[in-house]
Amino acid sequence: MTKRVALLISGGGSNMVKLVESMQGDHPARAVLVGSNDPEAGGLKKAAAMGIETFAVDHRPFKGDRPAFEAELQRQLEAAQPDIICLAGFMRVLTEGFVRNWDGRMLNIHPSLLPKYKGLHTHKRALEAGDAEAGCSVHLVTPELDDGPILGQARVPVEAGDTADTLAARVLVQEHLLYPAVLRRFAAGDHAPLMLG
Ligand code: GAR
Repeated sequence: MTKRVALLISGGGSNMVKLVESMQGDHPARAVLVGSNDPEAGGLKKAAAMGIETFAVDHRPFKGDRPAFEAELQRQLEAAQPDIICLAGFMRVLTEGFVRNWDGRMLNIHPSLLPKYKGLHTHKRALEAGDAEAGCSVHLVTPELDDGPILGQARVPVEAGDTADTLAARVLVQEHLLYPAVLRRFAAGDHAPLMLG
């Protein structure tokens, strides 16, 4: 049966757009919902323009009460009965309680070759370390940040003169290829890691 996918974003949503576009025609999944913690996230309008239902739960009024924020997020997600959640540039840290709700069913893309550079500023940190290559990872979400089983990775070379921005742009091209490829396999029941590049 076709899997129902909900996507969570915080910003422009370029990964979300690629994922939604990929879930068409002969595909084991389809996008049913896009949500954000930021009502102004540019990706929400893009999703609506593609005919996907959207919602926002602004995290700011919850003032650090993460479980209350997540309870509302959970309520919105459950209404769409998703089989799979894709975090796509969703920049809120999630509690163990929330993550457990979607155990084995929530994917994330992270702009580094995990286990390197969990958290923020991944490209700056790769450059400062003098790494010869960088990349991105799609992984299952577990309670520890950026730590779950790897479902796929794509690698790019670091080039002379790279800044965090030029490296991020090169990695993002690969994110747009990797995440849809991993999701297609995952939705079809294939959890073996996909290695690109
Ligand atoms: C992407 O590079 C994604 O890997 C990163 O945010 C960007 C979102 O871009 N995610 C993280 O850093 C998660 N910790 P997008 O909104 O254009 O997809």
